[in-house]
Amino acid sequence: MPSTQPLLAAEGVRKVFGAGNIEVVAVDKVDLQVSAGELVLIMGPSGSGKTTLLSMLGGLLRPTAGRIWIAGEELTALSERRLPEVRRRLVGFVFQSFNLLEALTATENVEVALDVAGKRGSEARKSAIDVLSRLGLAERLSFRPRSLSGGEKQRVAVARALVNQTRLLLADEPTANLDARHGREVMFLLREVARDGGRAVVVVSHDERIRAVADRVLWLEDGRMVEVGRLVEDPVCRMQVDVTRSVYLDHQGRRLHFCSEGCRREFEETPDSFVVTPTVTAAHGPPGGSR
Ligand SMILES: Nc1ncnc2c1ncn2[C@@H]1O[C@H](COP(=O)(O)OP(=O)(O)OP(=O)(O)O)[C@@H](O)[C@H]1O
Ligand SMILES: [Mg+2]
Repeated sequence: MPSTQPLLAAEGVRKVFGAGNIEVVAVDKVDLQVSAGELVLIMGPSGSGKTTLLSMLGGLLRPTAGRIWIAGEELTALSERRLPEVRRRLVGFVFQSFNLLEALTATENVEVALDVAGKRGSEARKSAIDVLSRLGLAERLSFRPRSLSGGEKQRVAVARALVNQTRLLLADEPTANLDARHGREVMFLLREVARDGGRAVVVVSHDERIRAVADRVLWLEDGRMVEVGRLVEDPVCRMQVDVTRSVYLDHQGRRLHFCSEGCRREFEETPDSFVVTPTVTAAHGPPGGSR
C-alpha cells in the first residue's frame, strides 16, 4: 500500500511557450500528488503536454507558474545553481528521445549516470552491467548507440534512469519501441521500482500494457488533467465511452471518441451520416472554444 506522504506533489503547474500570438499553453492548472510505492500512468493525445509536464516534474524545465515538490524539497524554489544537484539525487529520467551519448558504449552511457551521482570505478561498472543485463542487453554492452536498434537504445535509456535507484523515476514512453517481451520486461521493472519501498514512478505512455500495472491513470488533454471516467457519446454506435479509454479522432476542430477502431473507421468513411452531439469534447480548449 502506498503511504499517504506524497513523494511528488505539484500545485497549479502551468507552462507557456512563446509569447503573443504564437503563445502555446502546453500545461495548465495541473495538481498532482504521487505517494511512495505508486506507479502513476499519464496518458493523453499527442501534443497534450505530457512531455512538458514530466520535464517540469523532474526539474528539467521551469514552470511558468505553480509549485513542485519532491520528497519535501521544493524544486520550484531552488536556484539554477542548486537545482542540478537535487535533480541528480532524487530523479531518474527516461527521455522520449533517449538522449544517449553517441561516442560512448551502452555500458559507458549507464556509467555516466552513476558518475554524475559520484559513483565510479569497478563497482559502478558492475551496477551498469547488472542493470543492462536485466534488460536483456548483456550481449550489447560494448555497442555504441549507432549500432543499437531503437528498442535496444530505449532499454539503455531505461537502464541509465534506473541505475541510481532514485526516489523518483520519470519515464517518457519507455516502451514505445519495444516488442511484447521487452515491453513487458520494462513494465515489470518499473512496477518493481515502485514497489521497492519509498520510491515512485510516473510514466507517460500510450501503451495499454502499462495500464495493467499502474496504480492510477491520469489523462491529460490540452494541457489539463481530465477526470478519468468522464463519459461521452460515441457518435456511431451511441454508446457512452470513457474518454481515457476510447479511440479518438480530431474532426473539424473537435475531438470525437469512439468505442472501437471499427466505429472510428465507419465515421471516417461517411462523417456526414452521423450526428455529433455537443457532449463530445473539443479537440482544443474547452468545449465551444474558438481554436
Ligand atoms: N519548446 C517548445 N516551444 C514551443 N512549443 C512547445 C515546446 N515544447 C512543446 N511545445 C508545444 O507544447 C505542446 C505540448 O507538447 P508536449 O511535447 O508536451 O506534448 P506530448 O503530450 O508529450 O506529445 P507526444 O505524445 O507527441 O509526445 C505542443 O503543442 C507542443 O507543440
Ligand atoms: Mg511527448
